[in-house]
Amino acid sequence: MGFQALCVGLLCVSFLSYIYTPMPDNIEETWKVMALDAVAKTCNLVATLCDNIGLMKYEDVLAILASAHFTKPVSDENVTVIDTDFCDIPVRLYLPKRKSERRRPAVIFIHGGAFVLGSYSKSAYDDLNRLTANKLDAVVVGIDYRLAPKYPFPAALEDCVYVIKFFLQEKVLAKYRVDPSRICIMGDSSGGTLAATVTQLLQNDPNFKGRIKAQALMYPGLQSLDTFLPSHQEYQHGPVLTREMIIKLLCLYVTEDQVLPQAALRNEHMPEESRHLFKFVNWSDFLPEKYKKNHVYTEPVLGKLNASYPVLVDSRLSPLLVNDSQLQSLPLTYIVTCEHDIFRDDGLIYISRLRNVGVQVTHEHIEKGVHGALSFTSAPVFLNLGLKLRDKYINWLEENL
Ligand SMILES: *[C@@H]1O[C@H](CO)[C@@H](O)[C@H](O)[C@H]1NC(C)=O
Ligand SMILES: *[C@@H]1O[C@H](CO)[C@@H](O)[C@H](O)[C@H]1NC(C)=O
Ligand SMILES: *[C@@H]1O[C@H](CO)[C@@H](O)[C@H](O)[C@H]1NC(C)=O
Ligand SMILES: *[C@@H]1O[C@H](CO)[C@@H](O)[C@H](O)[C@H]1NC(C)=O
Repeated sequence: MGFQALCVGLLCVSFLSYIYTPMPDNIEETWKVMALDAVAKTCNLVATLCDNIGLMKYEDVLAILASAHFTKPVSDENVTVIDTDFCDIPVRLYLPKRKSERRRPAVIFIHGGAFVLGSYSKSAYDDLNRLTANKLDAVVVGIDYRLAPKYPFPAALEDCVYVIKFFLQEKVLAKYRVDPSRICIMGDSSGGTLAATVTQLLQNDPNFKGRIKAQALMYPGLQSLDTFLPSHQEYQHGPVLTREMIIKLLCLYVTEDQVLPQAALRNEHMPEESRHLFKFVNWSDFLPEKYKKNHVYTEPVLGKLNASYPVLVDSRLSPLLVNDSQLQSLPLTYIVTCEHDIFRDDGLIYISRLRNVGVQVTHEHIEKGVHGALSFTSAPVFLNLGLKLRDKYINWLEENL
């Protein structure tokens, strides 16, 4: 009995020390963030255990846990909400009920989840899109693109491109009474990656050039060349996301091989031929001094990984890889970065590069913020930060779209 109790006690202690992460000093609502962080790490641990004993795959366990917050399409007094499809790809539409004389703006919403998890039906996103539709009198289109690893790169991107091109047809815009000159593409986290890429692709396509008025990128990941940016190092243990978790999930968008995440963790995953691309993501050139702190730039270690993944040098995976002339024509851009976020520097580098070529950027840096804030605006976890960010974003749309 005593021995069993001791074992249980030791297990509890090792579990708690595994999930415990010291929080940065100036974080907002520290206790709530610590709880979220503990939940994320516990889910990660459970998923890893299930995978190790062969019960269920890591990502499948996480997908089941994530789906607990999915909602049905429910209309209310202001907005009609329907699930349908555009070219066989599921979309959720938010159509304001209010009568209006003029055509409406539209927001295309691309959800986050590391290309592996998530849906537009997650309750926090559903609230966000409903509120956007009502406040702006806008049509909102959420896209449920195909997920990895079942559908690896570029499935997610292709689905987003199809849906948006379908929506941009004059007859479809007319059906929903959308003003073709007031369309924004928005995404959070990996949805921000997809939003940035789709916007680049459309803007560099002669048939779609100039059709998107604005892009809104919320704490996006924007490159997979360098996994050792200063923010990747400073926030490798969280809060909320750890470097190991995110690399494991993001690699599934490329391959299920285990050698890639292992090499990416050491930042030794890029091939020799990619040397010329590092100038596009060089934090030493593009990060504001304030964020360089005492980090020292080290040259990339290339060609260590024998397996070759051509996708890794594709700008459709890492939107930071396009050259300046392709960036130049991008529309009005809203980027949110959070201080305590592993992806902070991806956003900061994109902002520098966009501003260098004259793209108009509104930068919202949340000094006390953590990754994923917009997802924490519905039961059971409300972060004030998430609610504030949601308001800031909607205000920006009201003024700019
Ligand atoms: C409908 O819109 C009004 C005015 O914006 C708002 O006060 C009300 O809460 C909205 N109803 C719902 C269910 O969101
Ligand atoms: C990155 O920038 C630093 C400082 O400007 C420079 O010394 C280094 O050669 C650059 N490295 C790459 C791979 O572009
Ligand atoms: C890569 O391939 C070379 C030659 O085929 C081999 O000598 C080396 O051990 C391999 N490295 C790894 C990490 O597998
Ligand atoms: C930028 O990239 C595009 C597409 O890869 C290419 O056609 C163009 O020549 C490049 N421009 C410069 C200045 O390198």
